[in-house]
Amino acid sequence: MPSSAVVYNPLSRALHWSIVLLVAVEFVLAWLMPDVHRGTQPVGLIAWHIGVGTTILALMLLRLLWRGVGGAPALLPGPTWQQHLAKLVHVLLYAGFVVLPLLGWANASSRGWTVHLAGVVGLPALAASGAVWAHKMGNVHQVVAYVLLGAIGLHVAGALFHGVVLRDDTLRRMWPRKA
Ligand code: HEM
Ligand code: HEM
Repeated sequence: MPSSAVVYNPLSRALHWSIVLLVAVEFVLAWLMPDVHRGTQPVGLIAWHIGVGTTILALMLLRLLWRGVGGAPALLPGPTWQQHLAKLVHVLLYAGFVVLPLLGWANASSRGWTVHLAGVVGLPALAASGAVWAHKMGNVHQVVAYVLLGAIGLHVAGALFHGVVLRDDTLRRMWPRKA
């Protein structure tokens, strides 16, 4: 087992894996929920999509804040291009999972829906009801979601390459374990 100096701290690991789980659930909800049209109400699976999505946003913000405070171990040694690619994908995932829920939220506001954090706490509207720009963000939301799915694929391929082929500590230091 790697020394505690080079593993991710327990809160970072807990947040990483909670968000992974919620993102998986969120994509399934997105695919199962009914198509959203003019006059659609935010109930059932759509309400779940919004509740889980806003939870992801809150956890991502907490995670970014905590990364600023608690830091992260330096990347393990490896070819420079791989380190650059890994960092680029990390930045994309951090930024993407903040921007993506905000785009969905803007779209929901343009439909006149009140967005609830985790389905419980009412949040302010990000756009006026009927706002054309925010309505258009619905399509951008979908495109960004699929770009991020691609980024996740690359990220997981990298993690598995380290864990299975290189057999270094990369996967282990993010793996959930006792503090
Ligand atoms: C990480 C979080 C999220 C992910 C991964 C995600 C993913 C997706 C995906 C893949 C779709 C397209 C579904 C399809 O192909 O039919 C979608 C649609 C939608 N999402 Fe999200 N979403 C997230 C967060 C949110 C949040 C926080 C809200 C609202 C507050 C939201 C509101 C919507 C709405 C309204 C649509 C329908 C858009 C339209 O058809 O114009 N999403 N989401
Ligand atoms: C929703 C899916 C995922 C997201 C959004 C995500 C996001 C991230 C981010 C932003 C980091 C950088 C942490 C930092 O340095 O601050 C990271 C690290 C890491 N992730 Fe993920 N991740 C996801 C899924 C996965 C999966 C499924 C695996 C395993 C197969 C994985 C394995 C790792 C590992 C091993 C690290 C540490 C990399 C290193 O030490 O250089 N991730 N993840």
